[in-house]
Amino acid sequence: MELLDGKYVSEKVKVEIAAEAAKILARTGRKPHLVAVLVGHDGGSETYVASKMKNCEAVGFKSSLVRYEGDVSEEELLNKVAELNADADIDGIIVQLPLPKHIDPEKVTEKIDHRKDVDGFHPINLGRMQRNLPSFIPATPYGITLMLKEYNIETSGKHCVVVGRSNIVGSPMSILMARNTYPGNCTVTVCHSRTPDIKKFTLDADILIVAIGKKNFITADMVKEGVVVIDVGMNRETSTLTKSGFKLFGDVDFEGVSQKASWITPVPGGVGLMTIIGLLKNTLASANKQVYP
Ligand code: GUN
Repeated sequence: MELLDGKYVSEKVKVEIAAEAAKILARTGRKPHLVAVLVGHDGGSETYVASKMKNCEAVGFKSSLVRYEGDVSEEELLNKVAELNADADIDGIIVQLPLPKHIDPEKVTEKIDHRKDVDGFHPINLGRMQRNLPSFIPATPYGITLMLKEYNIETSGKHCVVVGRSNIVGSPMSILMARNTYPGNCTVTVCHSRTPDIKKFTLDADILIVAIGKKNFITADMVKEGVVVIDVGMNRETSTLTKSGFKLFGDVDFEGVSQKASWITPVPGGVGLMTIIGLLKNTLASANKQVYP
């Protein structure tokens, strides 16, 4: 078994991103600028947004955080997005999900100018991605493709099983792996909460991408020898053993599954770090007007 090492790949790519950001600053006198909107005080979201801001600063981007209490109205949030859309100093806008129940995430997603939608969640970006046109690719799937490339994982003709069909990971990931690109050209199966016998499919997977949000959901008896495993799980549990007070668990039973896998991502130290890279690369591409000239 070999590790798909998110720490190694993300550090390497961050150096490249920082060099590109420095070029932009020298050429234009400004830094790529990402704005994150955070509503409420969800523990996970707080952590992820703080990490996004920190990583922006680390590569020489400007980052801004717009905060709202959980009772902000949908209208106020939509007005803020319109304001950010119109601000020429901003290259990328993300609204951290999930949002409180009284706010429709689809409305917010569609309100973001697709040319600043560095999450790649807007239907225009999703549609363009499916057609293999220039677009912002959702950060986690994008990060996963960068990792597969870095380790030259063969994907053409393989059976890729994606467990989970979320807008953020499973659904865009399944599109990318089926596209006529590298990585891609897989035969893709998407399993989800209504799939009766998930094991039947995972047992046949050459590449298994798991984004279902359940600790140790995939066990050794569910995979075949030599499988490539991408664990997107970010299951936080309180712990007295770590400084943060939390311990992170994947969706895959690493100890068991790594005995059979040819390649596998650890948690932490895998996909989570690559998600940030996807976001930074999209923000850089936006600042360079590479997707929408
Ligand atoms: N919540 C979980 N992942 C993401 C992400 O990539 N972007 C946003 N905006 N919210 C998220």
